[in-house]
Amino acid sequence: MRAVPTVQQAVHVRAPAKINLVLRVGAREPSGYHQLATVFQAVSLFEDVVASPAEEISTSTTGRWAEHVRDDESNLAYRAASLLAEASGTRTGVHLEITKRVPVAGGMAGGSADAAATLLACDLLWQTGLAREELGHLAAELGADVPFALTGGTAVGLGRGDVLTPALARGAYHWVLAISEQGLSTPEVFEEWDRLHPEYAEHPSIDDAVMAALISGDAHRLAEVLVNDLDAAAGNLAPGVERIQQVLADSPALATLVSGSGPTVAALAPDHPTAVEIAETVRAMDVADEVEVVTGPAPGARLLESVREDEG
Ligand code: C5P
Repeated sequence: MRAVPTVQQAVHVRAPAKINLVLRVGAREPSGYHQLATVFQAVSLFEDVVASPAEEISTSTTGRWAEHVRDDESNLAYRAASLLAEASGTRTGVHLEITKRVPVAGGMAGGSADAAATLLACDLLWQTGLAREELGHLAAELGADVPFALTGGTAVGLGRGDVLTPALARGAYHWVLAISEQGLSTPEVFEEWDRLHPEYAEHPSIDDAVMAALISGDAHRLAEVLVNDLDAAAGNLAPGVERIQQVLADSPALATLVSGSGPTVAALAPDHPTAVEIAETVRAMDVADEVEVVTGPAPGARLLESVREDEG
């Protein structure tokens, strides 16, 4: 039987949010970026992007956090599509339907997940033939957290956080995320960190104990090594963070930390039922605008569905 040529009608891709299990900050480079040593973990809170053929590039966003983003050229998904079109010499456009489940400016790289999902979706829709490695380079151009949203899992990030090495990690971890409606600007949090650490020149690194804890798969061991150098800076700019951390300190959470540049606070639970119980406590105390129970590690950007139609 002769193969019937097909055209892609829609490509549906899903990409994860992340938390930083460890975030060590070093000196600010002349580029304005800080050297980082971080351990990312992708978690089961996802952005969905459905890409369909169109003459121009456009986005439309729905979902819990849609009102916080603009559907214009400043949208990171728009910029991802436009960068890929330029890099691959694609002349057609794309319409991107984004479902936002990850808080905006929450320290969980939701915009980066949109960008990663868009790169993969448009790559498939336009059949650019670019290697996954080249997508990784484009991802890093879009933002320090975008490469990780492509790969997912658990990974060490060096450089600006964009030079990734997958980490050997066993088991699944249960997290409670306490989310604030009012986000934090990442550059402002780094500026606050600079203010708190003038003349800081140390080279950040990840302790061996962190890698050993990840290999053990033991949440109690992981709880002992969780650390975020941006914790105090985020807390200074978002006072709600401290209140959330106080509530979590009185809960059965094994440890809590700010995710990335905040203000989302992540609490590590020993198991799923305890995570649900902690989430109930945070809701009852009314200290967060949204509470999610998630697991990590979650996979990176992946194709969920591709709708094809026979050509002609
Ligand atoms: O790369 P991304 O757009 O996510 O970074 C946003 C801002 O966060 C940067 O412009 C910079 O101010 C700050 N940042 C930093 N060091 C990093 C990552 C981000 O100072 N490694």
